[in-house]
Amino acid sequence: MKIVVIGSGGRLGAALMREYQNKFAVTGFNHAQLDLSNFDHIREKLCGANFDALINTAAFTNVDLCETRREQAFRVNAEAPRLLAEICHDRNAKLIHFSTDYVFDGEKREPYAEEDEAKPISVYGESKLAGEKNVLAVQDGHLVVRVSWVFGPDRSSFIDTMIKRARENEAVDAIADKFSTPTYTLDIAEMLPRFFNVNVEGGILHFANAGECSWQEYGQFALDCCRRLGVALKAKTVGAAKLKDMSQWVARRPVYSVLSSARYTKLSGSPPRAWRDAAADYIRRFYSSK
Ligand SMILES: NC(=O)c1ccc[n+]([C@@H]2O[C@H](COP(=O)([O-])OP(=O)(O)OC[C@H]3O[C@@H](n4cnc5c(N)ncnc54)[C@H](OP(=O)(O)O)[C@@H]3O)[C@@H](O)[C@H]2O)c1
Repeated sequence: MKIVVIGSGGRLGAALMREYQNKFAVTGFNHAQLDLSNFDHIREKLCGANFDALINTAAFTNVDLCETRREQAFRVNAEAPRLLAEICHDRNAKLIHFSTDYVFDGEKREPYAEEDEAKPISVYGESKLAGEKNVLAVQDGHLVVRVSWVFGPDRSSFIDTMIKRARENEAVDAIADKFSTPTYTLDIAEMLPRFFNVNVEGGILHFANAGECSWQEYGQFALDCCRRLGVALKAKTVGAAKLKDMSQWVARRPVYSVLSSARYTKLSGSPPRAWRDAAADYIRRFYSSK
């Protein structure tokens, strides 16, 4: 099976490249090698490539910057995915396109299913939702995978920031009134191959590790794991910050954006592992010797 990964320099794309290099014939394009805002460039690069599945992990992911760069957000997150879907359709290949929990407004208080109405409250969310629709309008057999709070070894995320801050400061805090689920890039890498085949079911699929938490709970769990492993920290507890105090944020964020993995569990026969197990695994593997 031949796979192309777009966004190979990003958190998820780099993880997929490494995890698949000995399992598939995998080629990656990072931002410098393929710019999704340049449609001629996309055609030129992909028309010369041979693949059965194209995985798009690249996106304009800076949620605040998207608010002031609406045109760029829609070009990269919505229009480029439509072109990728068309290129895949023309050569009978499967497009696996990543999307986000930020397509939801966050008003629910139980996990969002794939068929729940998406009502984004930010330009980033709007552009990603438009990208999903564009991809599936070209071919409903393509797969849109919505993920949340992605973490992994290839690019720093919230969990790494918390550990770094706790190493350097006596007191740290994190938002206690915003909820979702951390999702480990290596778990995404493991779950994805069953969907590579063009004949396997497509549509929208939610994938996150199991359970839910606030940023504060997530951060506290990370510090507890570090302490058990003997990683030296100055701060022991994570104080509670409030969403309303994040005055530096330009874009609105959903308060609650937990994704239900029920469809994934039904299709694959087993649920994703719990976020605590995934986060503990990550910290054990990448922090215990630091
Ligand atoms: N991270 C999360 O918590 C999270 C949550 C929900 C959904 N997602 C979705 O999951 C997917 C993977 O996210 P991630 O965490 O891996 O994000 P990431 O680390 O920000 O990676 C995104 C990649 O896209 C590249 N990129 C940006 N603009 C581009 C363009 N015009 N052309 C080509 N490449 C471009 C970036 O390159 P540069 O770094 O050089 O700009 C980066 O390598 C994305 O679709 C994202 O929307 C992520």
